[in-house]
Amino acid sequence: MPACPTCGEENPERARFCQTCGTPLEPAGLPSEERKVVSVLFIDLVGFTARAERLDPEDVRSILTPYYDRLRSEIERFGGTVEKFVGDAVVAVFGAPLAHGDDAERAVRAALAARDALEGMNAAEPGLDLQARLAVNTGEAIVTIGARPGRGEAMVAGDVVNTASRLQAAAPVNGILVGEETYAGTRAVIDYRPAPAVVAKGKAVPLQVWLALGPLGPVGERSFVPVPMVGRGAELAVLRGIWERVVEERRPHLITVFGPTGIGKSRLAHELVLRAAATGGRVLRGRSLPYGESSPYGAFAQQIKQVVGIFDSDPLPVARERLEQFVRELAGDDGAGEASSHVAMLIGLPVEGEVSERETLFFSARVVLESLAREEPVVLVFEDIHWADASLLDLIEFLASRIREVPLLLLTLARPELLSRRQAWGGGLPAYTALPLEPLPDRDSVELTSRLLTHHGLERNPDRAATLAGTAEGNPLFIEELAAFLAERAREEEGRVPTSIREILSARLDALPPAERATVLDAAVVGKVFWRGVLARLQPARGEELGTLLGSLEQRDLIRRETVSRIKGEQQFSFKHLLIRDVAYQTLPRPERRSRHAVVAQFLEEATQNLGDAAGALAHHWHEAGEDRRAIDYLIAGAEQAGRGWAKERAIELYQEAFSLVPEEDEELRRQILHRQVVAMAALWHVTDAKLLRARTEKR
Ligand SMILES: Nc1ncnc2c1ncn2[C@@H]1O[C@H](COP(=O)(O)OP(=O)(O)O)[C@@H](O)[C@H]1O
Ligand SMILES: [Mg+2]
Repeated sequence: MPACPTCGEENPERARFCQTCGTPLEPAGLPSEERKVVSVLFIDLVGFTARAERLDPEDVRSILTPYYDRLRSEIERFGGTVEKFVGDAVVAVFGAPLAHGDDAERAVRAALAARDALEGMNAAEPGLDLQARLAVNTGEAIVTIGARPGRGEAMVAGDVVNTASRLQAAAPVNGILVGEETYAGTRAVIDYRPAPAVVAKGKAVPLQVWLALGPLGPVGERSFVPVPMVGRGAELAVLRGIWERVVEERRPHLITVFGPTGIGKSRLAHELVLRAAATGGRVLRGRSLPYGESSPYGAFAQQIKQVVGIFDSDPLPVARERLEQFVRELAGDDGAGEASSHVAMLIGLPVEGEVSERETLFFSARVVLESLAREEPVVLVFEDIHWADASLLDLIEFLASRIREVPLLLLTLARPELLSRRQAWGGGLPAYTALPLEPLPDRDSVELTSRLLTHHGLERNPDRAATLAGTAEGNPLFIEELAAFLAERAREEEGRVPTSIREILSARLDALPPAERATVLDAAVVGKVFWRGVLARLQPARGEELGTLLGSLEQRDLIRRETVSRIKGEQQFSFKHLLIRDVAYQTLPRPERRSRHAVVAQFLEEATQNLGDAAGALAHHWHEAGEDRRAIDYLIAGAEQAGRGWAKERAIELYQEAFSLVPEEDEELRRQILHRQVVAMAALWHVTDAKLLRARTEKR
């Protein structure tokens, strides 16, 4: 009976949508477990057990219930799930069932908030005196899909959970300890102090840990790395051109810069803002948040508060008074009271009265902004509007369409998913520009990589820079993360994707509709390149639907349809980004991978006539399917074919690979392979000798 992933309701076998809440139910054939990077938050009360023994059980409950309620609400505010209670301890998971892309950060912020909440509760109730130890740990876990933590079903399992509990036990009272992966993924946004390593049972080496002190900045604010901007000349020229026209012609303009996480939207906006400020513009910034936002017009509120000079610490009447005075000075006495009270309503300051229509409030916002821009040119920066409340999007479109004859630039930044929420975004506006940010071109990527490697004190190494830039696929944030990863580990770990990048890409995968996501996971087993026929075999139930799914993935820019195919009569596709393929592959637990590899191997056996080319691939899939004997046969066959074509080096490599798969007991086979390898080597010397000889003769 499929349980709803959202509300836990049990549904009849045939149901495709939950009967209670309408959530689409996972299509059949999806693994029931996945491997995901999660962050686990552990909070345990200190010395409470001893105290509880002396208290009446009812008193214990009346202390603990509000405490647990409060913790739960703090955790959920940051997008986490309370998984279970172990004794007095609370265990929460971030990143499963759905990844948000910044789950380690959410977990640490939740820990900080939980600690503050505890302090608040103690202050409000003398004698309560609750103390806790907290820890956050990040790593790969096995996640049970469809588990209902509310009913005591475990959602995640793995070393990451046990280690979190160890760290928690080692944390100072009211302190938050984090492990290495958590630290690496969040140190740009959280202030840390190194703490003495923790010796944990069952661990060979002591665990490196850090003490979380507080956030370095507000949510969503990433400090830029201190290297100058690379490339993006054309994009910057477009933005500057628009800004100049806005100023000269005194005509408002709405720009939306589109691009995925880390591609450089904020950085580009920052460069334009520097320019605008240098040429006498006034810049007001606001950002929409992925979580924890209370006001629908939050970003607009930040801009207004910034220009008026209202601080969050100001008592409300003071803020209200300051706003009114500001509007009065700006727009004159006429109607200032009304306009300022409307703006106050928009930005969440308490005011008397009500208006019957939203337009009335928007109109006042327009009046205030027009007056402001009449004084000097204004840039309003709206960051991350894919997270904006619909009302804020309405307000931005309203301003862009109604403000007249003043120099005002509305600069908005968004991930492409904004368009799935608002297909017609910007449509029908008098002056709107959409600027998609593409990956950095190769040359710029390599340049940025070199600069970052130097910044981290690694020597300049063009090959390494090129490899790393290639892996990052033109995404500056990924380049930064990979360079930092390299600097820390000091060596390349093959196939390892830094946790921070894995979090971001998992979130992209998790945002896909379930059928599309399942298709990506299957395709990932095939490799960077895959064929429609093999997917059909992996998911026989899909049938005709498969075409639509592939079309949808292509449209989402995850895969590419190729014009040629290595298999006759088979439509060939490839992953647009290898990193996405890697992350999708890592999501599958081992048994799921194995069974899929076997299907792929069978498909390739039937589909490929020319053994030589496919031998390597077949060997790989059989090996991953756990069938080493078949893999060895293909490697030997491939080696022979390579040998016949006088590709002796390749032949030696393949024999080597085959040899490494043969179990030690099988001495006969080992001897055979060694023998052939030796023959190939002798031939190779022969080739080398022949080459040398020819070189010598040619010299003469
Ligand atoms: N062209 C560039 N040259 C150098 N660094 C860049 C460039 N574009 C982005 N970065 C850096 O990459 C990181 C991610 O960029 P950011 O603008 O925050 O991405 P986004 O806002 O699209 O998520 C930042 O540290 C930024 O400084
Ligand atoms: Mg940004």
